[in-house]
Amino acid sequence: MAEEILTFDEVMTRFNAETIYDGLSFSVRPGEFLCILGPSGCGKSTSLRLMGDLLDVQGGTVTVAGLPPERGWDQLAYVFQSPRLVPWRTALGNVMLGMELRFDDRPKREMEEAARRLLALVGLQRDTDKYPAMLSGGERQRVAIARALSVDPKIILMDEPFSALDLNTRRRMRAEIIRIWQETGKTVVFVTHDIEEALVLADRILLLSNKPTSVLETIVLADARPRDLDGSAVLNEHKNHLISLFRTLEDAGKEVAT
Ligand SMILES: Nc1ncnc2c1ncn2[C@@H]1O[C@H](COP(=O)(O)OP(=O)(O)O)[C@@H](O)[C@H]1O
Ligand SMILES: [Mg+2]
Repeated sequence: MAEEILTFDEVMTRFNAETIYDGLSFSVRPGEFLCILGPSGCGKSTSLRLMGDLLDVQGGTVTVAGLPPERGWDQLAYVFQSPRLVPWRTALGNVMLGMELRFDDRPKREMEEAARRLLALVGLQRDTDKYPAMLSGGERQRVAIARALSVDPKIILMDEPFSALDLNTRRRMRAEIIRIWQETGKTVVFVTHDIEEALVLADRILLLSNKPTSVLETIVLADARPRDLDGSAVLNEHKNHLISLFRTLEDAGKEVAT
């Protein structure tokens, strides 16, 4: 459907003899904040790689902005768990690099202005000339977010982007990403294995099963943001429900592994 910006339709993925997906289907609406939640190894990162044309589908269909991934990839940008910055470039230089790699003929001054604006958006207007080694983990991840935004993608794919940060920084970054999402109107697909994170962030949570992976449950969250888990009976109910489902998945996963 034209309304959906990302679709997985009966997608099959196998690595050697192992079936990861045996018909995975879901879709994402424009402007939605979707969290993909699931146990380790269930294929969360694999789903993002399929969207980004980093991996071919072996059956079924993936579409990105109505196109097959090999034509839709430039509608996407990634933020990974580690920020993957170039150490010999400043924060400004790293954000500009994102644009240099994507746009051949954009004047340097224009790119610099855009990079400064995006660094201000992520709260780093005073740190533009710092090298990655001079930035904290959270600040580096902010640079990675600015770099992702620099190519003006329709969709931002985030793969456990805050999981390497300490708890306080992680909480701050969650609030920040919501603000940035609200300001930019981008579609966000956010992969996490953290139940609380998904509950604080998502418009909708897809809980994935163990392999062969399917969507075990979809949870729609209409609560206003910023969200306070402790202050919301509804969110707490979802949390307890997800914890018990997760436990079942992890126990079943262990049985398979041993
Ligand atoms: N290139 C690959 N070759 C073989 N197996 C892979 C490859 N990439 C991922 N896998 C396997 O596919 C499964 C899903 O991986 P992944 O998507 O990274 O899981 P998640 O992100 O949910 O932890 C895992 O069992 C992993 O070992
Ligand atoms: Mg992963």
